[in-house]
Amino acid sequence: MFAKEIYIRRRERLKIQVRSGLVLLLGNDESPMNYAANVYPFRQDSTFLYFFGLDQPGLAVVLDLDEGAECLFGDDPSLDDIVWTGPRPLLRDRGQQVGVTRTAPSKELGQVLNKAAQKGRTVHVLPPYRPEHSGWRPQAAGRRCLPPTSYSLQPSPVLIRGVVEQRSIKSPEEIEQIEIALKISSRMQMAAMKIAKPGVFEYEVAGAMEGIMASSGVHAAFQPIFSVHGEIMHNPYYDNRLKASDIAVNDSGAESPLHYASDITRTIPVGGKFSLIQREVYSIVLDAQARCIAAAAPGVEWRQVHRLACIALMEGLKKLGLVKGDPQEAVSAGAHTLFFPCGVGHMMGLDVHDMEPLGEDYVGYTDTIKRNPDFGWRYLRLAKPVEPGFVITVEPGIYFMPELIDRWRAEGKYSQFIDYARLEAYRNFGGVRIEDDILITPDGCRVLGPPIPKAIAEVEALASS
Ligand code: GLY
Ligand code: MN
Repeated sequence: MFAKEIYIRRRERLKIQVRSGLVLLLGNDESPMNYAANVYPFRQDSTFLYFFGLDQPGLAVVLDLDEGAECLFGDDPSLDDIVWTGPRPLLRDRGQQVGVTRTAPSKELGQVLNKAAQKGRTVHVLPPYRPEHSGWRPQAAGRRCLPPTSYSLQPSPVLIRGVVEQRSIKSPEEIEQIEIALKISSRMQMAAMKIAKPGVFEYEVAGAMEGIMASSGVHAAFQPIFSVHGEIMHNPYYDNRLKASDIAVNDSGAESPLHYASDITRTIPVGGKFSLIQREVYSIVLDAQARCIAAAAPGVEWRQVHRLACIALMEGLKKLGLVKGDPQEAVSAGAHTLFFPCGVGHMMGLDVHDMEPLGEDYVGYTDTIKRNPDFGWRYLRLAKPVEPGFVITVEPGIYFMPELIDRWRAEGKYSQFIDYARLEAYRNFGGVRIEDDILITPDGCRVLGPPIPKAIAEVEALASS
């Protein structure tokens, strides 16, 4: 974990932001896979990690802002726990590691909350995303420190805003963690480029990447996407056998030891060389990414960077003859969403989609910059002006989705901008995505981590090695 003072400082700031009442921050519990004792790998809640760094299940903290008190709730290991899983630090020692001096057994948490309710005090909580944190029902099975309250707690906008404000700006020690994750990503990407040969199954490549993460002592930041069907945004399957004519999208990321994410995408020519049309589409995406990175600077609205990407992609597709008319007009109309229906990037930090459980509109939008509900635009996770310290992915792509093409063609949708007849030749193309992670700096941005090959010659050299 980071130095104790870092966690203390973050909490002091949170107390000033929220001002009064109680703040209840819940850590995560173990999550059963097929029976209670057989659990998924434990992942602590990211906001709990941010303010306390304690990476064990069954913890919660109450900050009493009016009395200036902090109490860590949890349980010391029982003798049975020690028999089965070995000795663990005492709650008191865990609290002291991060500057929390008061501790109490988890069963007392409910009493504290009930007392607060009787006195009409506000209890600030974050939106729940795990079932055991939802509903706040008394004594739900399996949750050792679930507050047995008879009233319902609503997510607190003031707490959400405070957490988002702090977590959005990454400090040097957080950047260091992200760059550790990126070093692992770099090894994963380069290994995949070498392994993804004709005859190999996608799961062999995904497995090799999992092996790199496991042998580095870390987990994946999200389930790796490795697919010859790169046109499917988050394709979770790995059952295709690679062919020489395929391109495969590798969108994967590791966690650092302190759980900061990386999120990198490269597109690999399985046969070692891109075909002419693969090379053309790849070059358009690479150019769009370069333009977005060049434009990223403090004060720039991320939705404008997204628009820039859309225009760059449509200009390139026009040169290929797939798009007609003025690319700017086509983007204003929404025609680009046939090829690029997602956003150009999202915040990244302790979560790969950073702070998504707190509500994307708090993270990526403002009172005046509202989410555009149109197809494609509504998936944009970040739209507001970016600030120094933001870490953001830049991930334009071109996707040829047969189902979407057929639907739109049948409807004659945007036929003034799209040449559906020429598009036929691309219906089995798949997709290309290229993604890097950037830090917004006072005068622009910096691509984080070691350079990971993405120029055509570099990728082909590795893919044919
Ligand atoms: N890497 C997955 C995503 O950005 O959604
Ligand atoms: Mn991403």
